[in-house]
Amino acid sequence: MMGGSAPVLVVDNLQLAFGGLRALDGASLSIPTGGVTALIGPNGAGKTTLFNVISGLLKPDSGTVTLAGRDGRGHDLAILPPDRISRLGLVRTFQIARGLPKMTVFEHLMLYGPDQPGERLWMLMSNPAAVRRCEDELSEKALAVARRVRLDHLIDNPVTALSGGQKKILEIGRALMAEPRLILFDEPAAGVNPTLAEAIGDQLRAIAAEGRTVLLIEHDMALVGRVADHVIVMALGRKLAEGSFDAVCDNAEVQRAYLGVRAELAA
Ligand SMILES: Nc1ncnc2c1ncn2[C@@H]1O[C@H](COP(=O)(O)OP(=O)(O)O)[C@@H](O)[C@H]1O
Ligand SMILES: [Mg+2]
Repeated sequence: MMGGSAPVLVVDNLQLAFGGLRALDGASLSIPTGGVTALIGPNGAGKTTLFNVISGLLKPDSGTVTLAGRDGRGHDLAILPPDRISRLGLVRTFQIARGLPKMTVFEHLMLYGPDQPGERLWMLMSNPAAVRRCEDELSEKALAVARRVRLDHLIDNPVTALSGGQKKILEIGRALMAEPRLILFDEPAAGVNPTLAEAIGDQLRAIAAEGRTVLLIEHDMALVGRVADHVIVMALGRKLAEGSFDAVCDNAEVQRAYLGVRAELAA
């Protein structure tokens, strides 16, 4: 799967400080095209900050993030706003599921289709029939996504009525609506029960099986071991190690990085 294929994403020497704290400190890594790559590391390693930079929410102090476009051309994400980045086929989910008041599951999914509102407004004025077709396609897609992530029985429920686990699943559905090539998942199984965590793992494998690249931050090591083709370990704002799940688990430096955090917590 990885065998020599060009990476979909290359992060080079990212620096980002919050005041005196170097959240990213020379982070360099490559994400292979296809499959599931897991990004692990102790709390505070800079994983979420890295996702925020890759998805355009934060701009780095220096360094580059290059996404291989559909045509193979490289795009520097560090200078693009989030909406341009998602149009290039890169979407992300959030660690904390955000509730939108009064919106149903269906409406929530509809909101994240790949169409551009500006283009739609233009079409509405010039060709209302085409707009209707577009809306029909979008609603069919929302239904299909809801079925796929097994939320179709809740499609007319308000998002705020979903359980924490169901909100995590809805985040996956939301990401799928945009038909991305690369999806970043920030702890998609955090706080969910083991059965649901397993279902989320199956969803991630299914997403990878249809040719999308999955990049996953996850603390649940059983889940990482089950779904990841490749594992990258971060500590102190940069890459510490990478390889197969078994190889990084056996790596003494990786073990020390996790222990160091525990020692600090105990102190
Ligand atoms: N917006 C922010 N302002 C100040 N410090 C931050 C901010 N976001 C993250 N940090 C700090 O940056 C470091 C890396 O955080 P984060 O990227 O969330 O780590 P991880 O996701 O690996 O647990 C932590 O020390 C965290 O407290
Ligand atoms: Mg985090």
